[in-house]
Amino acid sequence: MNTTTAEIPMHQQVQTFLSAPRKMLIGGRWIDAASGKTFPTYNPATGDVLANVAEGTHTDVDRAVSAARNAFENGPWRKLTASERGRLIWKLADLLEAHLEEFAQLESLDNGKPVGVARVADVPLAVDLFRYMAGWATKIEGNTIPISVPYTPGAQYLAYTLREPVGVVAQIIPWNFPLLMAAWKLGPALAAGCTIVLKPAEQTPLSALRLGELICEAGFPDGVVNIVPGYGETAGAALAAHPDIDKVAFTGSTEVGKLILGAATGNLKKVSLELGGKSPNIVCKDADVAASIPGVSSAIFFNHGQCCCAGSRLFVEKGIFDKVVDGVAEDAKKIKVGPGMDLSTQMGPLVSDEQQRRVLSYLDSGFSEGAKAVVGGRKFGDKGYFVEPTVLVDTTQNMKVMQEEIFGPVVCAVPFTDLEEVLPAANDSVYGLAAAVWTRDLSKAHRIAAHLRAGTVWINCYNILDAALPFGGYKQSGWGREMGHDALELYTEVKAVTVRL
Ligand code: NAI
Ligand code: MG
Repeated sequence: MNTTTAEIPMHQQVQTFLSAPRKMLIGGRWIDAASGKTFPTYNPATGDVLANVAEGTHTDVDRAVSAARNAFENGPWRKLTASERGRLIWKLADLLEAHLEEFAQLESLDNGKPVGVARVADVPLAVDLFRYMAGWATKIEGNTIPISVPYTPGAQYLAYTLREPVGVVAQIIPWNFPLLMAAWKLGPALAAGCTIVLKPAEQTPLSALRLGELICEAGFPDGVVNIVPGYGETAGAALAAHPDIDKVAFTGSTEVGKLILGAATGNLKKVSLELGGKSPNIVCKDADVAASIPGVSSAIFFNHGQCCCAGSRLFVEKGIFDKVVDGVAEDAKKIKVGPGMDLSTQMGPLVSDEQQRRVLSYLDSGFSEGAKAVVGGRKFGDKGYFVEPTVLVDTTQNMKVMQEEIFGPVVCAVPFTDLEEVLPAANDSVYGLAAAVWTRDLSKAHRIAAHLRAGTVWINCYNILDAALPFGGYKQSGWGREMGHDALELYTEVKAVTVRL
């Protein structure tokens, strides 16, 4: 690893933010954990402690839920007009945009991603999501419905539906896009008029806590958004099981998604889940190969492969297999790996030592089953949690590296003969989050898109996400859709009202 890195100086406000232990936000006040305990969050580029954060446990969760319940039942929030709610969300977007550099740096320091990427992707996408959802606040409508009621002949009725907020919502988010995942969750819940207890991931709590300060500054009533940092097994589990929460929204591993579902049975709270993926990326012989190679590379290497929709299974038609694999391997070799705060860095460290160990153990398992690395295959450097961008070949469908989500910069490349072979292979996964196809044949592209069992299909592009586009999974990739107007379904109940005239 090149140790002569040129890291940018830390923004003054980031220095201030990191200089004191961060508290949790409950009922509009910043407070310590009931236990007084804090936990460290690390800089994954060095392994050093970045900041200490109040450690929420079940007592704090209880307090946050009762603040959210009180804000929902008794506070000014439900009395605001839809327009006023929308304006608050828009104001939050403006504040976030005004603090773009600060958030980009916090995200880079806490998660490891390149600050240059956070500046153009994570923060602007979060701003855009809030603006998009601000617009929905005034457009959540019911219907008027003609009813016939055969057992009351001659009677007349007016029947209509109301779309109401689902109530108090728990939102448990992961560490791969800490700010953006907070936005995906908070935006639609606020537009719908819910109140919220948000738990950021223990690896990356900082940007959500700073966002909490902007939420207060924007003028949201106390208790509408409560933020309780802490560990999954304690704070997260307490939220999932809490009897006074109406709905839990979760993004993370499929394994924990199943635990959330189990915990939610106590009071049958509504559940939405955005889980893992093992997304197929199919390159056909008739594709624009020169355009597909960088597309395939960014599909797996963006965010160091720590994307639920990463294109981690690469299927390439025979005849162009070597060309595509060599091209992706060349891209991988050129990627500048280093600390996120260095502007020349293209790939930072993985988020934690645990994630680095997990990815390296997948590589070991692949090698022991006969896979070979064309490039990469090892950890990178001697400090921080880096892994080399890796392209594996000689993988077979039943290998662990082909079946399980690695969540690191590792792609498995497999040749195919024809669509009859590749389409069943692409769908042979417990996951169904995303997929892509590269071809110049328009009707073939649409036929493949229809055949793939995935919530998102990209044609001649990858990782194109937008606040207006629904995102979510088939099969074990989840329940429900985030973003777009579909996300509002997760945060509203429908009430049928019937009036005898
Ligand atoms: P995780 O699923 O354990 O963590 C995600 C969130 O769930 C965090 O906020 C965590 O505190 C919380 N959590 C953990 N256990 C919980 C429990 N019992 N009850 C309630 N909340 C709980 O993911 P982890 O361990 O960080 O990563 C493991 C793997 O999960 C990754 O290698 C990757 O394959 C997958 N993952 C998928 C993500 C996605 O975007 N779909 C994001 C993060 C991880
Ligand atoms: Mg975990």
